[in-house]
Amino acid sequence: MKPYVVKLGGSVITDKKKPFSVRRQNLNRLARELSKSKRPLVIVHGGGSFGHPLASKYKISGGYREERQLMGFALTHRAMEQLNAEVVGAMRSAGVPAVAVQTSACAVVKNGNILTLEKRPIKKLLDLGLVPVLYGDTVPDLQKGMGILSGDQLAARLAKDIGASRIIFGVDVDGVYTSDPRKNRGAEILKNITQKDWNQLSFSGDSRIKDVTGGMKNKVGELLKLAKSGIESEIANAAKPGTIERLVNGERGLGTIIGGRK
Ligand code: IPE
Repeated sequence: MKPYVVKLGGSVITDKKKPFSVRRQNLNRLARELSKSKRPLVIVHGGGSFGHPLASKYKISGGYREERQLMGFALTHRAMEQLNAEVVGAMRSAGVPAVAVQTSACAVVKNGNILTLEKRPIKKLLDLGLVPVLYGDTVPDLQKGMGILSGDQLAARLAKDIGASRIIFGVDVDGVYTSDPRKNRGAEILKNITQKDWNQLSFSGDSRIKDVTGGMKNKVGELLKLAKSGIESEIANAAKPGTIERLVNGERGLGTIIGGRK
């Protein structure tokens, strides 16, 4: 059975308004839901209130300019390792043989884009029956010196490289809307997005607090690129109990499908 890649958004597993706070109830429930998957899974999680505040404090995504950013890089990476340990721990408690994989040790990035990704260790872990857990991370960048690799970009690339059949993005809203639902009451949820639909939409973007990697707009962009390789993705509400469990077991159409057959 081909694996699925599941990205857990930072706002589902952490409280973005409170630095270093895990949304433990959500995390434990998601770990239990993932444990019900009959399919091999690779998990990627975001930074939420662990990664983003430090990354923006030290302007990591702008590239290397001054020495203090080196400590900023180290601190941001450590924060991500701490969140990763929480995610992996919750999964193990739910009976999933989850193992941490350090993103910055297997991705080479140039000007914010993944140039190469060392997929072999990840594939081998999967073949053994383990569940690799990666994350958005601080990374050395061949052009900018340093940068942030978003969990979104990583998840999309991983899906392609390991031959996943589908990618599931667990976020804290029901999917992708025609405009920001918090600002516009007429915002409608999109059931399916193709490149053509996307070009026609004047999407206002998602103004998350301290989201250094760009919110929903970037997510859809990454997933549309992936759709060109024939991999379907779905953005759905992971904060709603049961949604991730149903999706990892093959259900479709609970959120917004990107690049799928209509
Ligand atoms: C960001 O990862 C990682 C860091 C800030 C170090 P993501 O961009 O995937 O995180 P979320 O899901 O938006 O929180």
